[in-house]
Amino acid sequence: MNGFTVLQHDKGKADVFNYLSENSSVFVPELIPRVDVNLFAEKIVENAKQFWLMENALVSGFASCYFNHPAREFGFINSISVIQSRQGRGLGSLLLEGVAQYARANSFKQIRLEVFKQNRAAIDFYYKHRFTILNDLEEKVLLGLNL
Ligand SMILES: CC(C)(COP(=O)(O)OP(=O)(O)OC[C@H]1O[C@@H](n2cnc3c(N)ncnc32)[C@H](O)[C@@H]1OP(=O)(O)O)[C@@H](O)C(=O)NCCC(=O)NCCS
Repeated sequence: MNGFTVLQHDKGKADVFNYLSENSSVFVPELIPRVDVNLFAEKIVENAKQFWLMENALVSGFASCYFNHPAREFGFINSISVIQSRQGRGLGSLLLEGVAQYARANSFKQIRLEVFKQNRAAIDFYYKHRFTILNDLEEKVLLGLNL
């Protein structure tokens, strides 16, 4: 995608909080009131690597991923989204590839995430990127992508 780049850059809590609050409604189901965004932003800043999808200086998407597994078996994406007006143009794929590149460069073998079963668009998106089902949880599925 021309003009778009993925930056691995760990910003402060205010930036993460603002992005998640402003884009709460793109998540399925919506983040607010399901999630305490203040706590979630704190958790991301303290424990996850951040990936910002940039269009020049503008943020078009964001992903965060834990890379804490001691044996580097897997990284765990706890948030990935593209802003509403930019969805469906390959940008989610670019963001995911940014996370996968970081994972490979740091010798992780797999990427995992959980997605709500009702989030059909995201599930189709993950299948398209070769994720497979690792576990069927009650209202979510655990997916994995071998790198
Ligand atoms: C999941 C998400 C990040 C994908 O980003 P995106 O920029 O729309 O994705 P892309 O344009 O790279 O899509 C690639 C593929 O995903 C699938 N896809 C994306 N949007 C879709 C939709 N609305 N319906 C069905 N399939 C869809 C398609 O297979 C698409 O392939 P195609 O372009 O050949 O049809 C984006 O939809 C999003 O931000 N969703 C809301 C946040 C969220 O719920 N995140 C998941 C948390 S687990």
